Amino acid sequence: MSDLFDVSQETILITGASQGLGRQFARVLSAHGAAVVLAARHTGKLKSLEEEIRGKGGRAAAVQMDVTDITGIGKALDVAEAAFGPVSVLINNAGIAIEKLSTEQTEADWDAVINANLKGAYFLATELARRMIARKQEGNIVNIASVLGLGVMKFLSPYTVSKAGIIQATKVMALELAGNNIRVNALAPGYIDTEMNHDFWATPAGEKLTKRIPQRRVGAESDLDGAILLLASKASRYMAGSVVTVDGGFLLN
Ligand SMILES: NC(=O)c1ccc[n+]([C@@H]2O[C@H](COP(=O)([O-])OP(=O)(O)OC[C@H]3O[C@@H](n4cnc5c(N)ncnc54)[C@H](OP(=O)(O)O)[C@@H]3O)[C@@H](O)[C@H]2O)c1
Repeated sequence: MSDLFDVSQETILITGASQGLGRQFARVLSAHGAAVVLAARHTGKLKSLEEEIRGKGGRAAAVQMDVTDITGIGKALDVAEAAFGPVSVLINNAGIAIEKLSTEQTEADWDAVINANLKGAYFLATELARRMIARKQEGNIVNIASVLGLGVMKFLSPYTVSKAGIIQATKVMALELAGNNIRVNALAPGYIDTEMNHDFWATPAGEKLTKRIPQRRVGAESDLDGAILLLASKASRYMAGSVVTVDGGFLLN
């Protein structure tokens, strides 16, 4: 049973690994033995994380990747796969949010959010899946969705649409790829304190929202450690198209 969550044979590509949830996923997965390829647009923070993980005896490599550059995804994946060999697990985590009422969101806002959270994630997953199929390689794709792909909140309409879309993409890809031994699942976090939203929690609106969480607190990055290990490891081998919520009970309201 001790090997249930073992990821030491996995090469795991994590997008959006320079901060927040992606950085925490990289730390926890490398601490459990995985080789981690750290991707984001800016490489400064990635390099520090690479050094940190290597300093602890882990295997990590930083790779510059913009998931919205659809034609560049293949090349970025080539660089990622040069580090530790074929990627066996993708944590599709890169994402952005633009907070405005729907009536104020511009076409540029819509495109930025949808391109990063949905289109980029989709085309990275499909490019990797094609490679896995060609290599006859078992594979595992974990899309980082959100409770806002299942429920809604004001001010984040393109974001909620993108996260609902990635949940549907997760299900249809899981259905199509199960016969190729490629699993696709989603993790839907609730409110987690990261760089993306840190300042918000101290505002009156942040305090009000915290009170709506049944566990009465905002999540910490480490609250997702168990779920990411479950989804990235063979412990989830019979899960396909699942959406795992980790939200302190938020969706129960
Ligand atoms: N925090 C929460 O409460 C929460 C809840 C539910 C779901 N999520 C989801 O979890 C994921 C991570 O959120 P977070 O809170 O950790 O966000 P964050 O702190 O803002 O980090 C976002 C990461 O994505 C990278 N990124 C953004 N656009 C990218 C692009 N086009 N290509 C490649 N990398 C890109 C950023 O690095 P660069 O800027 O260097 O590219 C950064 O590493 C997102 O998908 C988010 O929607 C978060």
